[in-house]
Amino acid sequence: MSETRAWTKVAELGEIPEEGALGIETDDETPIVLVRNEGEIFALRDVCSHAEVRLSEGEVEDGTIECWLHGSCFDLRSGASINPPATQPVPTYDVKIDGDDVLVSLDEKNS
Ligand code: FES
Repeated sequence: MSETRAWTKVAELGEIPEEGALGIETDDETPIVLVRNEGEIFALRDVCSHAEVRLSEGEVEDGTIECWLHGSCFDLRSGASINPPATQPVPTYDVKIDGDDVLVSLDEKNS
């Protein structure tokens, strides 16, 4: 099967901190948080599903990113909320690494 999805370069690998997050905006102004956890890169929408704050300012730990405002953690793979007060998931995106380039497919995986 041929690849029909569009991939957008959003960052270089070196810009994403170890066990940390980088908030970016795509050309169409979609806020995305790129997260590095245990050697893997994940992409989620950079907006908490509880209130409109940036997840990229939160802590990364054990496959999750924690919202800094009220402490809900979101699964990096599925975007699911692990604990209250957030109850809704955040959208996630597929990530592809090409050399030093980090590319995302802007089709949301879980919407
Ligand atoms: S704004 Fe993120 S948990 Fe409340």
